[in-house]
Amino acid sequence: MKALVLSGGTGTRLRPFTYSMAKQLLPVANKPVLRHCLEAVRGAGITEVGVVVGDHHDQIRDAFGDGSGDGVRITYIEQPWPAGLAHAVLLARDFLGDDDFMMYLGDNIVAGGLTAAASDFGAHRPEVKLLVSKVDDPSRYGIAEFDASGRVFGLAEKPAEPRGDFAIMGIYFFTPAIHEAIARIRPSARGELEITDAIGEVMLAGGVVTAEEHTGYWRDAGTVDDLLDCNRFVLSGMRGETLGERDRHSVLRGEVLVEPGAKIIRSEVHGPAIVGADSVVEDSQIGPGTAIGRGCLLSGVQVEGSVLLDGAAVRGACGIRDSLIGRHAEVIGGRGRSGTRLRIGDHAFVELAA
Ligand code: DAU
Repeated sequence: MKALVLSGGTGTRLRPFTYSMAKQLLPVANKPVLRHCLEAVRGAGITEVGVVVGDHHDQIRDAFGDGSGDGVRITYIEQPWPAGLAHAVLLARDFLGDDDFMMYLGDNIVAGGLTAAASDFGAHRPEVKLLVSKVDDPSRYGIAEFDASGRVFGLAEKPAEPRGDFAIMGIYFFTPAIHEAIARIRPSARGELEITDAIGEVMLAGGVVTAEEHTGYWRDAGTVDDLLDCNRFVLSGMRGETLGERDRHSVLRGEVLVEPGAKIIRSEVHGPAIVGADSVVEDSQIGPGTAIGRGCLLSGVQVEGSVLLDGAAVRGACGIRDSLIGRHAEVIGGRGRSGTRLRIGDHAFVELAA
């Protein structure tokens, strides 16, 4: 079985970060979201991977190369514009050939592995197998209706009035039957070739479409809040270790990973948290759920539940929480304020009122 990982798209819901980087390169626990996806694919025993890339394809190629660093073999497939998930499959036709494949949307973080789902698909070979998960806000997702045996009888993409609360996760298993179905669909009202429509076509042609509930953690890291949630989740499963330096005035509580070259000086860090390589944390309090990238400087800062990208600098700013701070962005001031939430793009400068 092959895998097709979709890493194009525009990432409008993650602006301003996606003006300068592909959303799949945003870090969750100091690792690009796409790396988490490739780990899940590799964990399911799949090594032949097509990666669909869009605008920021050069950054993705630079980060992942031929895939050997991640234990996979990557074939890049360029999508000139994000014309839909089924359009991405259409473009990947030569790569996919007549093989079965797993399609994995490159912004999905899933816990618990996909090995069992992949081998169940291999054993039963329905035309399509979907993974679904219960959500509170079904109109944000594709929705599947299915009977007690898991046979799907209804599908809708982001319905205004959802019939059910099982979201189609961004992980699908397909036989080559999907290709004929894609050839029969037309762009939707939003101008995209929808995979949900193509799966509907498979059903119309009498094909078997099944759904399996995934009960573990799953999140589409498509917004800042979702990305921060993924970060908290992944950090919560991490083991702490001090590979950098901590002075005797500093305290590390819970699971804290201090990467090589990082320095913790007169500070308190409450895990789960990561301090990235070559970062300096001084006179600061770092709270749970925080991932500090590489080469950052935090001085006189209180921050929790946040992600700082590489090279970010924050000085004399207290009460920062649930924030995403871009590469080489600089934040100063704000002493004494609490509950400050920031979304600051790469290279931005912000001075908070004292
Ligand atoms: O995350 C689950 C949801 O993903 C499903 O419930 C929906 O049925 C499915 O349509 C999809 O909805 P999203 O609105 O989240 O899709 P999004 O546009 O964010 O694209 C998902 C990934 O696929 C993302 O990494 C970008 C990539 N992509 C997207 C499009 C439209 C491409 O590579 N090419 C594209 O043309």
